[in-house]
Amino acid sequence: MTNLTTSEPVQISELRCIACGLRTHNPGHKFRCPTCADLLEIVYPGWDSSDGQRAAPFTAAALKALWRARRKSILSIDQSGVWRFRELLPHFPDEGKIITLREGNTPLYELPACARAVGVEWLVAKHQGMNPTGSFKDTGMTVAASMALREGFRWVGCASTGNTSASMAAYAARAQMSSLVLIPQGKVSWGKLSQALDYGAITIELKTDFDGCWRILDEVVDRMPVYLLNSVNPYRIEGQKTAAIELLEQLDWQPPDHVIVPGGNLGNSSALGKAFLELEKLQFITRLPKVSIVQAEGANPLVRTMRETGGKKLVSVEAETAASAIRIGRPASWKKAVRILERMGGTVAEVSEVEIAWAKAQIGAEGIGCEPASAVTLAGLKKLVQSGFVKPGESVVLILTGHLLKDPDFTLKFHRGELFGGRAQSREAESLVPQQRAPIVLEASADAVVSALKRVEETSEA
Ligand code: F0G
Repeated sequence: MTNLTTSEPVQISELRCIACGLRTHNPGHKFRCPTCADLLEIVYPGWDSSDGQRAAPFTAAALKALWRARRKSILSIDQSGVWRFRELLPHFPDEGKIITLREGNTPLYELPACARAVGVEWLVAKHQGMNPTGSFKDTGMTVAASMALREGFRWVGCASTGNTSASMAAYAARAQMSSLVLIPQGKVSWGKLSQALDYGAITIELKTDFDGCWRILDEVVDRMPVYLLNSVNPYRIEGQKTAAIELLEQLDWQPPDHVIVPGGNLGNSSALGKAFLELEKLQFITRLPKVSIVQAEGANPLVRTMRETGGKKLVSVEAETAASAIRIGRPASWKKAVRILERMGGTVAEVSEVEIAWAKAQIGAEGIGCEPASAVTLAGLKKLVQSGFVKPGESVVLILTGHLLKDPDFTLKFHRGELFGGRAQSREAESLVPQQRAPIVLEASADAVVSALKRVEETSEA
């Protein structure tokens, strides 16, 4: 077999503060700028040129061919849909220390019925829920957890609404590292909580919300040698970038007009936007998609930040939504997300609980399915078409971030008509009845089943 790992260009990366621009090689244990304490991002000085010439040590055409060739390789890092693109990631000299579950490699699905329902002609979903632990977090975790291992940490930690903790626990377990999970008590779906337990994490439920868990973890990492694996860790962002690279490869390097992403702590939208900007700079693509971010109405700090301050100052909120993955009121990466919106011409949208439930059922009815936080993308798209921001003839990609089975409780309650029981939205929720398919309980006889089938046929013909 050809060894595709030799003679590959090695890229030099450094950390840069997103606010004051300070460059550093030492991220500290909190990944904050030593001067102004803002977030750090990874930059590749070799890709910049002072004389206007392209300076990167490779051509886009050569990398496209190399990445395609790696698909035939049996090396685990080539089979990973993250490390296959390693020329655009920080250099990792010791490949033996890379923790990979063959993450990435997620499918694109056409959604013709959803397209008709929202009024666009071409709509596909990039299903990041098809990652090994069922969410997009794995693409960032393989890079950041590998860094933790390389730096000799025994403990890794995160605050989470559930998916980060599931992913972190899995990657830590693969490398025999211990993991500390802080989650808001009673606010994490069973699917996600059970993953963290199964992968052996020390799981602590705190009597607070996600933002409270994050504040406490911030203190814990000051006092204990725990490697921080939330998305303030810029290595997470670098790994998550690869979803955009893989998406463009799947589209034969033709960017869509729009990419729609859910917004919680705002790491993912920042990561995807960073990838598109880098790919444009490196001449993989000649135009940029518009990246737009959708939040739940009850957890809409970015929407309010844009509306009320034009993106200048964070407006934090007390978050509440049944889409528990994005129940976040004080997003850490808000400045990075604002910058992506500004540089890529995207916008923000907010959607109601009923709109989220409608969109989730619609995606499920196409045989795809996703968790509630992912469905905000379709609900948001519907609004963006109505407002004219997305034109019917434009191409749209939804980023579905989590698998349907992450939150079966939401799905069951939806189909049983219990999701909005006694709540203010219950009248609006009546519009959802035609989508509901509660289980039918019958006597154990073929006669009963046959008459039930006939009744279903009669109603669908009526
Ligand atoms: N979708 C899902 C399924 C998520 O789990 C998250 C975040 C998001 C969207 C939002 O992504 O934070 O990068 O803007 N979940 C985090 C967690 C917060 O702890 O699992 P973001």
